[in-house]
Amino acid sequence: MEKSILITGGAGFIGSHVVRLFVKKYPNYRIVNLDCLTYAGNLENLKDIEGEKNYVFAKADINNEELLKEVFNDYQITDVIHLAAESHVDRSITDPLAFVKTNVMGTVNLLNTAKNFWKDRENHLFYHVSTDEVYGSLDDGGYFLETTPYDPQSPYSSSKAASDHFVRAYANTYGLRTVISNCSNNYGPNQFPEKLIPLCIHNIKQNKPLPVYGKGENIRDWLFVVDHARAIDLVFHEGKTNETYNIGGFNEWKNIDIVKLLCEIMDRKLGRDKGASAQLITFVKDRAGHDQRYAIDADKINKELGWKPSLTFEVGIEETVDWYLENEKWLDSVTSGDYQKYYQEHYS
Ligand code: NAD
Ligand code: TYD
Repeated sequence: MEKSILITGGAGFIGSHVVRLFVKKYPNYRIVNLDCLTYAGNLENLKDIEGEKNYVFAKADINNEELLKEVFNDYQITDVIHLAAESHVDRSITDPLAFVKTNVMGTVNLLNTAKNFWKDRENHLFYHVSTDEVYGSLDDGGYFLETTPYDPQSPYSSSKAASDHFVRAYANTYGLRTVISNCSNNYGPNQFPEKLIPLCIHNIKQNKPLPVYGKGENIRDWLFVVDHARAIDLVFHEGKTNETYNIGGFNEWKNIDIVKLLCEIMDRKLGRDKGASAQLITFVKDRAGHDQRYAIDADKINKELGWKPSLTFEVGIEETVDWYLENEKWLDSVTSGDYQKYYQEHYS
């Protein structure tokens, strides 16, 4: 095998798309998907590639030092793409420590394992996948650049900012070869229905209220998940050592407009009267410390690596709705068990 890449968090939303892309595109790479399968991790996301010769799954927590060493050794890991994380802002507000444990301590544990395992560090890459939320919140003007000072506002973004700093510290102190990308909000198949878009699709289907925080005026920049995976592929292979790349959708939407759009699409697809699903829109108490706007300037990755989104939002969102409607079993399985409890506690 030419490379043996450890992808952490590969059973989650974005990770599963990255694992699929790498397994299919690079038959000469061994892809080791390491994931401890929290509520957000689901091996169903990778059913179609599970028998591939260059794919291995290892169930492990990134905080487990011994297991990590074993995996590095057993598979002679040459590179890491690190996506494992606690990823939901609302959960970080109720349980910040869980985010410190996985996003900060888990990342440092993984960095340490890689640093100790790789003797010739210049020949290996530690790629850390991060979020634009580390830059804080924008008002109506301006964009996040790679040079924008960090100003995280939520426990989630603070934990991701801390992990980014540790990655840079390991590059500076120990000569680890690293790269970081900070991406805007992703949408698409396999996203756990606690995030805005799949939650609304799921609730519209079930005729349940669509909880819009505050006035629904907050703005996010949405990117189709497969385009994020394509960007990760490019940055992994062509990104400059120890650089940062911002990845975004050039696609800003107010939350309320996204929810209305989903209602229109679902009315059409479910054969409901026009305006029927919009009746479900319910304005609820705002998220604590709710960031107003995120918007990425993705000029650097565009100019240096030639990346841009391949799908328009109009096409991507139709494909996404179709996927959730066609994959009822997936939705049923991920919303059984603890999901109901989370939902009731969070939205009551
Ligand atoms: P996700 O919550 O869907 O998946 C996270 C995965 O990590 C799950 O499979 C989970 O089981 C695994 N995991 C969690 N804790 C772990 C641990 N301690 N050890 C091993 N595995 C563990 O998240 P996602 O939305 O796919 O995000 C993936 C990465 O991309 C995260 O680092 C996130 O910060 C970043 N990111 C996400 C977005 C977004 O819009 N979702 C945008 C930019 C960046
Ligand atoms: P989310 O999908 O949780 O992503 P993030 O907080 O990381 O941006 O939320 C996207 C936006 O939608 C955010 O402004 C919060 C808002 N939102 C709602 O209005 N209602 C909801 O039920 C959820 C989950 C989010």
